[in-house]
Amino acid sequence: MVKITVANSVSDELLRAINDLLPQLSRRASPMTTTQLAEVIDSPGNELLVAYDDGRVVGILVLVVYRIPTGIRSRIEDVVVDESFRGKGTATALLRRALEIADDRGARTVDLTSNPGREGANRLYEQIGFTRRDTVVFRR
Ligand SMILES: CC(C)(COP(=O)(O)OP(=O)(O)OC[C@H]1O[C@@H](n2cnc3c(N)ncnc32)[C@H](O)[C@@H]1OP(=O)(O)O)[C@@H](O)C(=O)NCCC(=O)NCCS
Repeated sequence: MVKITVANSVSDELLRAINDLLPQLSRRASPMTTTQLAEVIDSPGNELLVAYDDGRVVGILVLVVYRIPTGIRSRIEDVVVDESFRGKGTATALLRRALEIADDRGARTVDLTSNPGREGANRLYEQIGFTRRDTVVFRR
């Protein structure tokens, strides 16, 4: 069973592990620097969840909680599990922990977006209870 923790400090090991995971999430992702990782961890709205198996980082997820006029909302971003460790419930454990934290922090909603081609990820989100919204996603 993997152990899910909330990262609270930067280490070379964590940075290296995240930089190994990022290309598995997006071919366009550039490696993070120590300073950027510190910004992710220290940003008050962010929770960087890290899944460990026997002391090794095997997956990550970022939960972002923010207040806007309509209430406290949250988003899940950058969900990725190492190729060598997939299919063992790690992403499920990361997502469940993120949902607990979002709830504890008073979030009314938890949103995430996923490419329609990511069939495995989309099945996973639906299995956990996320439903598809009829909305238009814009990006600039
Ligand atoms: C998607 C991803 C995070 C899943 O991680 P994981 O730890 O293997 O997921 P889990 O073991 O918790 O899988 C839970 C469920 O998700 C579904 N699922 C996950 N990966 C799947 C795949 N490749 N094909 C089909 N279903 C899949 C299954 O329903 C699975 O349930 P089951 O094991 O009872 O069949 C991982 O494959 C990954 O990192 N992919 C590349 C990055 C990515 O797509 N991230 C999501 C961005 S939106």
